[in-house]
Amino acid sequence: MIEFDYDRESERYRDIVEKELRRIASCENGNVYPKLLDAMFYSLEVGGKRIRPCLVLAVCEMLGGNLENALPFACGLEMIHTYSLIHDDLPCVDNDDMRRGRPSNHKLFGEGMAVFAGCGLLSLAFEVMLKAVLKSNDRGGLLAMNEIAYRSGAHGMLSGQAADIENEGSTSQDEEVLAYIHEHKTADMLTAAVLAGAYTAGADEKTVDALRAYALSMGLLFQITDAILDVKGDSAMMGKTLGKDAANGKMTYVGLYGLDGARMAAEKAAKLALDALKGIESPDYLEETIRRMLVRSR
Ligand code: IPE
Ligand code: IPE
Ligand code: MG
Ligand code: MG
Ligand code: MG
Repeated sequence: MIEFDYDRESERYRDIVEKELRRIASCENGNVYPKLLDAMFYSLEVGGKRIRPCLVLAVCEMLGGNLENALPFACGLEMIHTYSLIHDDLPCVDNDDMRRGRPSNHKLFGEGMAVFAGCGLLSLAFEVMLKAVLKSNDRGGLLAMNEIAYRSGAHGMLSGQAADIENEGSTSQDEEVLAYIHEHKTADMLTAAVLAGAYTAGADEKTVDALRAYALSMGLLFQITDAILDVKGDSAMMGKTLGKDAANGKMTYVGLYGLDGARMAAEKAAKLALDALKGIESPDYLEETIRRMLVRSR
């Protein structure tokens, strides 16, 4: 039996995604205004951990699906995630000058172009996914796209982002608001990834329910560790300026419960995520993702 190797599997998924993103970049974009095209693919190709697309592929494969069916949704989701980062860094949102170890989009291309680059990636993501669904006529693909549309938009990530900026500087210790922000700005995109993988593999309802619970706890864990690393992390490793949550008066687990309290909350979320996997067969990749997230440095 070949032993499970998390790094090798992640590398394999990442290679598949990177190759497809390069193909999308080079494909039929001749009529796109050159500076807009540069701005869009600068942020997409400058890298990032690619957690969300790797999850789409890993879940699809875990459930016996075909990676080719999942790939358009993996790439679409990474394009939407990248758009969310471009807009998140704008001076009117978090005002961050560095992203993925390089100048933020608006620092290189200007604020107006960064707004358009974000919107361009969002629309192109749906174009890529729709083309795949039109070609395959696959109901799983439609369900994946529906999940991605719902969770990346006003019902999901954008509501988290809206609550995040609305509560800047707030002195309220409202745990419900904190949970709402995390669930939507971060967990929804990770849930979209996990469920897109599940739908493209034709998962049954029970599996979808278990994976939804897993992804919600993973999302909380991921955002709690993001806030811990914003205080304790290394800027070069993270590829972004740190100390920004406190500077911007953000409502975070670290702000509300202190570093130790945030670490305890992260451990609790990790345990809940692992518990949710109990009925799932061969959950090695998903389990190891949680263990790595708990101790991540980037
Ligand atoms: C950053 O996401 C935004 C958060 C939800 C904290 P990632 O940490 O996944 O960023 P990249 O894609 O690796 O750059
Ligand atoms: C952003 O959260 C989540 C998004 C939807 C982009 P943060 O604002 O904490 O992410 P970073 O720290 O800038 O990556
Ligand atoms: Mg933000
Ligand atoms: Mg930010
Ligand atoms: Mg952050």
